[in-house]
Amino acid sequence: MGIAADIAGDWHAALAALAWQVEAGADEVIGDGPLNRYELAAEGRKPSVPAPAAPALPESVAAADPVQVAQAAAARARTLEELRSAILAYDHCDLKKGARNTVFADGNPAARVLILGEAPGADEDREGRPFVGRAGQLLDRMFAAIGLSRSSTDPQSALYITNVMPWRPPANRDPEPAEIAMMRPFVERHIALVDPAVIVVMGNTPLDALTGKRGILRARGNWMQALGRPLLPMTHPAYLLRNPSAKREAWADLLSLQERLRG
Ligand code: URA
Repeated sequence: MGIAADIAGDWHAALAALAWQVEAGADEVIGDGPLNRYELAAEGRKPSVPAPAAPALPESVAAADPVQVAQAAAARARTLEELRSAILAYDHCDLKKGARNTVFADGNPAARVLILGEAPGADEDREGRPFVGRAGQLLDRMFAAIGLSRSSTDPQSALYITNVMPWRPPANRDPEPAEIAMMRPFVERHIALVDPAVIVVMGNTPLDALTGKRGILRARGNWMQALGRPLLPMTHPAYLLRNPSAKREAWADLLSLQERLRG
């Protein structure tokens, strides 16, 4: 195929050409001419250039447990900037390879309320900020209804927003337990550094990450304790977009949060 020769060596051009072909309906990769692989096997042909052996990893790296590496890196971070750098340098989570951006956080780090979401979606991955898509816009409207905003400079009315996963999972699938486990040390350090009065978890993934429990529809609205702080589980705004009748309960949860902050 002509394109291949023109773009050889240019990764971005190759990706664009591939995307264009998928857009045009290509769903299979074929060569220019037919190839009888049974004959090749019978002739016992070998590739002309033998594949190089993979370089051996140093023993300490090969043996590294991703959770332990995360724990050590998170513990070393003394500021939010250092924590952001530690996450950017963390290479044990495969989601990072497919993501355009590392989505760290948004809002006011002095806020009394920290919102913990699940993982970036396509919009967040593109912009590098949490909760900026449709669900995020609903989240902003929900909290604005009780006087809280991520753009507020007053800690009393401010929000700080982050996610369990800083990288978008492919096709927005749920993060896997191993992925949650390796990012948990960073989440815990993040919360310790922001030191909020209250944590609000949106959906099952952050509920699981902080309490080990799932079942957000049962848990929502029931105050719990996590990391020595009050924690309010709420249904995720993406769920509310799909199930508008659940907004009534979400409103009750917001009023409960407002009450707690006043108290
Ligand atoms: N859903 C989340 O949980 N977090 C985001 O940042 C966006 C959508």
